[in-house]
Formats: sequence, C-alpha cells, structure tokens
Amino acid sequence: MKNPTSDLLLDTAGGVTTLTIHRVAKKNSFTTAMYAGMADALDQAQADPAVRVLVIQGHETIFSAGNDIADFLQTPPTTLDAPVFRFMRAISSFTKPIVAAVCGPAVGIGTTLLFHCDLVYAGDNAAFSMPFVNLGVCPEAASSLLAPQRMGYGRAAEALLLGDPFMAEAALEMGLISRIVPPSEVNALAQRQAQKLAAKPMSSVLASKRLMKQGQADLVAQRMAEEGTLFGQMLAQPAAQEAFAAFMEKRKPDFSAF
Ligand code: COA
Repeated sequence: MKNPTSDLLLDTAGGVTTLTIHRVAKKNSFTTAMYAGMADALDQAQADPAVRVLVIQGHETIFSAGNDIADFLQTPPTTLDAPVFRFMRAISSFTKPIVAAVCGPAVGIGTTLLFHCDLVYAGDNAAFSMPFVNLGVCPEAASSLLAPQRMGYGRAAEALLLGDPFMAEAALEMGLISRIVPPSEVNALAQRQAQKLAAKPMSSVLASKRLMKQGQADLVAQRMAEEGTLFGQMLAQPAAQEAFAAFMEKRKPDFSAF
C-alpha cells in the first residue's frame, strides 16, 4: 500500500499493516486528506487477504489532537459522504483485529476511534478526551452510544458533558485500554501483539471479533449517522463558530450568549 499523504505512513509486513499518524508539528491533527487516506487504507486492508491485522499508532508524545480545526473551518463535513464519516464507517465495520498504540494526548476522534479498536496499548503519558461540548458540537464515531456502555454513564457524562480528560490509569480501569507501559515501549508492544494475532487462525480471530460485536453493528451505524448529521449542523451554529474562532485566535471561548 502506498502512503496516501505524507501525513500518514503505511507499512505492511508479516500480515500486519501499520498506519502511523505522522503530523507531529500539528499534533497529529487530522485533515480531510488524512481522513480520506485512512478510509482508503482501511478499505484496502479489509479487502487484501494478505493483511491479517491493522495497527494504528501515533508518536511517543502525541497520538492525535483530533480534527484539524483550521481544515474543518475550510471544509466542514456537512454530508455523510465526507471523508471523516467515511473513515468512521470504515473503522467501525472493519472485521479484522485492530491494535492501537497511544501515547500523549488523544483528543476527540483520537479517543473515539479507540472504541472501534480491539487491543489498545497506552503509554503512561496517554491523556484521553472528548471535548466536543467545549467546541459547540456533539459526540461522533458512535461515542454517545459506546462511551456510556464502556465507561459507565457517570464517567461518560464527565467525559462528554464536561469534556474532562482522563488519564491512562482511568482508561485501563474502565476497560477502554488493555495495558499501560512506558511510552518508549508502546509501539513495540503493539507490534508484538499484532504479530501474535497474525499467527493465529484467521477464521477463529474473525469469528471471535464478530461474535463479540454482534448485535451492536446496526446500532453503531445508526448512531454514527445520527451524530454525523447533527455534528454537521452544529458546526455552522454560533457556539461552534465561537469555539473555533477562539482556537484560531488562541483565546478562551465566550459561550455566555449561547
Ligand atoms: N487543529 C489544528 N491545529 C492544531 C490542533 C488541531 N486540533 N491541535 C494542535 N494544533 C496546532 C497548534 O495550533 C499549533 O500550531 P502552531 O505551532 O502553528 O501554532 C501546534 O499544533 C502545536 O499545538 P500546541 O497547542 O502548541 O501544543 P501543546 O503541546 O501545547 O498542546 C494539545 C497539545 C493537543 C493538548 C493542544 O494542541 C490541543 O488541545 N489541541 C486542540 C485539540 C482539540 O480541541 N481538538 C479538536 C477535537 S474535535
């Protein structure tokens, strides 16, 4: 597989495709082109019988700052065929195992994409957050369904209504991640686990993942579409406009009028 943009690196070896988010200067935030590249990479990995496992990793200091806010302002995803929504559908319906390696901040979709991964290894510097409410928008990637399920309503409410971050220890306790190791060891651990998975009988691995997720697929797809439509509408509303302008102007947003 070829790198779709210089901000994403793709490498396939021994049945494992590794997708590295590679935009550290902008804290690995995702542009429209990156979403399109990731959606294509997932579709290709899904279709290619030589790919048995997918690994998603960032940098030792940053997993992802979520949506690139400047790019979002220029090309807001107003329809469900936008690359960001295509990526969400591709990751949520991916039938092969996905291993994620997370260090540093995982903001917005940097956290919500993890609900669709199977094994998540985190550095002790990992910090998860879903600050959609602070941006005047709503949850995405079916996180309004999956966060309460995985974290319990009380903790999901802190994360989704207040936008409060939580650290690796809390994420481990909630079952969002599988293990915590020093940041310098996270990518190597993810690779080892991916290789272990790739050596197992694929039919058993696929059946086990499918059975664990059974019953949820339609709900996830429906919720993602509902969130996506609302998210697109909310982006154009004053609260989001104020939040994004504040981010670009490096100031605190003023939501007193909304
Ligand atoms: N979109 C666009 N640019 C972003 C970005 C984003 N989501 N996150 C960071 N950047 C850019 C900054 O504007 C800055 O660019 P500059 O050097 O040209 O000024 C650069 O990346 C470094 O970011 P900075 O905030 O200085 O890094 P930090 O280490 O102090 O903080 C974060 C890292 C991730 C905690 C912080 O950048 C952050 O909170 N980002 C916004 C996260 C967010 O709200 N995402 C949207 C979720 S839907």
